[in-house]
Amino acid sequence: MQDASLIASAPPVHPVEEPLALYIHWPFCAAKCPYCDFNSHVRPAVDAARHGRALLAELEHEAERAGRRRLGSIFFGGGTPSLMPPEAVSALIGRARALFEAEPDLEVTLEANPTSVEAGRLREFRAAGVNRLSLGVQALDAASLGFLGRNHSAGEAVAALEHARATFPRLSFDLIYARPGQGEAAWRAELCRALALAADHLSLYQLTVEPGTRFATEHARGAFHLPEGDEAAALYAATAEEAGRFGLMPYEVSNYAKRGAESRHNLAYWRYGDYLGIGAGAHQRLSRGGEILAARRHRGPEAWLERVERDGHGRVEEEALSAVDRGREAMLMGLRLSEGVDPARIAARSGLPFERVVDPSMLEALREEGYLAWLPDGRLAATMEGRLRLDALLPVLLR
Ligand SMILES: C[S@@+](CC[C@H](N)C(=O)[O-])C[C@H]1O[C@@H](n2cnc3c(N)ncnc32)[C@H](O)[C@@H]1O
Ligand code: SF4
Repeated sequence: MQDASLIASAPPVHPVEEPLALYIHWPFCAAKCPYCDFNSHVRPAVDAARHGRALLAELEHEAERAGRRRLGSIFFGGGTPSLMPPEAVSALIGRARALFEAEPDLEVTLEANPTSVEAGRLREFRAAGVNRLSLGVQALDAASLGFLGRNHSAGEAVAALEHARATFPRLSFDLIYARPGQGEAAWRAELCRALALAADHLSLYQLTVEPGTRFATEHARGAFHLPEGDEAAALYAATAEEAGRFGLMPYEVSNYAKRGAESRHNLAYWRYGDYLGIGAGAHQRLSRGGEILAARRHRGPEAWLERVERDGHGRVEEEALSAVDRGREAMLMGLRLSEGVDPARIAARSGLPFERVVDPSMLEALREEGYLAWLPDGRLAATMEGRLRLDALLPVLLR
């Protein structure tokens, strides 16, 4: 239950010490995948140069408000940012480096779809300053790629992976598992083939049916069934086991990496650091003057573009989060991580004592049931069983 007195006079938060993360959203795709509820749109023609200029304008605007801070990562996400003109990517990286104090090891990730067209541009993205590629492989056989509505073949995906490995110092790729009819043996075999392709980071997502997608309609009329309960849990355990055999550890619910190869950008979200988000629908969290400001932008690419061209930014909403919301968000993100949360950090970012963020008696009950654990370094983490059920645990745990 929310405590009204805490919302009215939110105690101040400590500013973060870590560098800022910058997210840049490209909202266009060649086709809409039937499972996807990301802010992605298919348009017959995109004025990419104009959209790129608007992103630059919004970056200038937000950088001025944020002040000159250290910058640890840039992430081009989508949508399909590999459809961006490489010159726009280059200009945005150059401007961000000039507007902020870029860390010497600045991480610059770009999400790419593995069609042959996009694979042909990888070298240009590397030359533009991208040093980490995240490829949306999704599956390694034709039938599954067809079911997922992907417009690339398994052969193209493997070719793109090999090309990417030779081009970028760091490489990650995404797979979607727990697909209809996918048994444990089949998933283990597919994952082993994927792991042999030698990326240092994998994002392995269980297929979820998101409201409003084509899959939601098809699933509702019984066109397919997904593995659930024990079956899904067994697939999750098998995933960690196979990844572990190749030296990739589960550092977040769906993310596996070799030591040191974790996504620094995504860690900034999960550790509840500050991030700027520019482009249609992008979110941001910025500490300023003892508050955390949460901002949201127009989701529609056309509305966003018009607003940026008129006002210099596409924000529709900005609010200072209440202390309770800051604590909730920090817990929601942090418990996704195997490293868990540091109670002192939660207190500093929320402005509330840890016991005002979580219910101590519920914490103890969930610990006894094996869903939460205190780590030797004093951090609180969800166990593997807990990470599988975070959506159910958090409302119980949080005050
Ligand atoms: C923004 S999307 C990927 C970017 C890129 N456009 C692509 O499709 O490869 C991020 C990732 O989320 C995952 N994803 C999206 N919707 C999902 C769903 N309903 N269930 C499971 N994974 C999903 C996919 O693996 C996808 O690669
Ligand atoms: S999964 Fe990727 S390519 Fe497919 S619609 Fe979503 S963002 Fe676009």
